[in-house]
Amino acid sequence: MAARIIDGQALAKSMQAGFAARVAELRKGGTEPGLAAILVGDDPASAVYVGRKMKACAAVGIRSFAERLPSTISNTELLGRIVELNSDPHTHGILVQLPLPPHIDMARVLKTISAEKDVDGFHLYNVGGLVTGSTVFSPCTPYGVVKLLEHENIPIEGQNVVVVGASNIVGKPMGLMLMARDATVSICHAKTRDLAQYTILADILVVAAGVPNLIVSQMVKSGAVVIDVGINRLPDGRIIGDVDFEGVRTKASAITPVPGGVGPMTVAMLLENTIKSAERKLALRI
Ligand code: GUN
Repeated sequence: MAARIIDGQALAKSMQAGFAARVAELRKGGTEPGLAAILVGDDPASAVYVGRKMKACAAVGIRSFAERLPSTISNTELLGRIVELNSDPHTHGILVQLPLPPHIDMARVLKTISAEKDVDGFHLYNVGGLVTGSTVFSPCTPYGVVKLLEHENIPIEGQNVVVVGASNIVGKPMGLMLMARDATVSICHAKTRDLAQYTILADILVVAAGVPNLIVSQMVKSGAVVIDVGINRLPDGRIIGDVDFEGVRTKASAITPVPGGVGPMTVAMLLENTIKSAERKLALRI
């Protein structure tokens, strides 16, 4: 079997027109949606990701600004800046790019961002809402995966889903979002013994472990849908995912490439959340 390639780049691009129209509508009513991205330190990968987010905002008319802060910034200073942005009426979304330097209290930072402006979906309120089904904003990467599956008409209800990776950013929220759609979810992680014993059962396999070529074809059920969330930079500069793409594409029924699969959808969902935040503010008059 040759897998269908799930083109996240194309879907993200096709969503742009809808985003631009919603922004135009907001602007007509006097609201200019605004996103603040805080980048602490000079991690080159983080700078690239924030740059992509800013460019995507500009393409649909969202006003965005990246605030670069030194890696030596204190917790108090960083929290103070977030508090200022929380009360800035022109800022509808706030994101703090992760990872943060080790001396920064990440949990406190994420909790300080107003849940109403938490377009990354990392605030405790939004994380808890994933359990009970009442988030304001869903985290962008798992949200993007759900959108990809829906767009490809891949059923979720009743399917065996295996998520490899249990991070707060992807694996755990991914599991909760798929459970909310009535999938049977197993979460595997770095300490899972005999990973293949789980992955081979998956109708939908989502891999977010950050380990190049972790998943090879013998670990995949024939006809499975494989979603590769990994982004790994090789010494020669190439970017690859966590799945052996060439090996697995002959066995799966559908597979996301890296790059061009989940990554562009993460950015698209950030735009969606930022626009939603501005629309929400208008509707609720908050
Ligand atoms: N670091 C890796 N992924 C993300 C993300 O989706 N949002 C933020 N803020 N930081 C990240």
